[in-house]
Amino acid sequence: MGRWSARLAPLFAGFARVGGDGRVLDVGCGTGALVKFLADASDRSIIVGIDPSQPFIDYARSRFTCPRFSFDVGDAMELPYPSHSFDQSLSLLVFMHIPQPEMAASEMRRVTRPDGTVATCTWAHPGLEMAAIFWEEAVRIDPHAKTRKPESRPCTRPGQLTEIWLAAGFEAVEETTLDLPTIFGSFDDYWIPFTSGAGPAGVYVETLSPDHRQALREGLRKRLRGHREDGPISLKATALAVRGTVPS
Ligand SMILES: C[S@@+](CC[C@H](N)C(=O)[O-])C[C@H]1O[C@@H](n2cnc3c(N)ncnc32)[C@H](O)[C@@H]1O
Repeated sequence: MGRWSARLAPLFAGFARVGGDGRVLDVGCGTGALVKFLADASDRSIIVGIDPSQPFIDYARSRFTCPRFSFDVGDAMELPYPSHSFDQSLSLLVFMHIPQPEMAASEMRRVTRPDGTVATCTWAHPGLEMAAIFWEEAVRIDPHAKTRKPESRPCTRPGQLTEIWLAAGFEAVEETTLDLPTIFGSFDDYWIPFTSGAGPAGVYVETLSPDHRQALREGLRKRLRGHREDGPISLKATALAVRGTVPS
């Protein structure tokens, strides 16, 4: 999924009204997809990224060496920063992984100055056509695949992020959907990531016999390309984003 974060980052930053300068916190920064966009958008902003994964933070530190950027290992539910120390706090594709998203929202509010913006974004469920098609085909060939299909995660249905933002006490709360075309250069560009063993679909593919795996591959190929020659496949991904301001 990492390949789509970088494409979603500009849409999310636009909705979050990221300013030209100031101190920005990226919660759950991972390897820095949002940081990269923010870095390219302004050469004045100071950006702090935080993530519980030490390898991601090590990678982000090696990727962004300018002193304007810094990275910490830590949890969204217990941010290690003083109150009101950022102008904006953002979080891209993280809230569905956080055990208590309400705590993370309240921590993001605490560390952001009055009138500052706090915004987050998650993939909608079902919002990823690439995954929906994979599971429809997997279940058509093997009804037991239904039990391997991931349930919807928290914060992935319309209104859920708004509820959390209102409960955290933000003002001017607004939620929107962000649509992203997900374009694959060929059928293999779509299929190969499912064979990496990553995520629920990758884990499912690893359990299949070679024949079953081939049947799934062929079923998906037919569905996506039909009788046409191999070529680009254009699907859609939908994200939900919410923003609010810290009361003055
Ligand atoms: C799908 S990745 C998104 C990474 C990055 N924001 C991006 O868009 O490329 C989810 C990230 O959330 C982080 N994460 C998971 N639980 C977290 C928590 N409790 N607090 C902060 N980050 C968390 C993971 O380590 C991972 O980097």
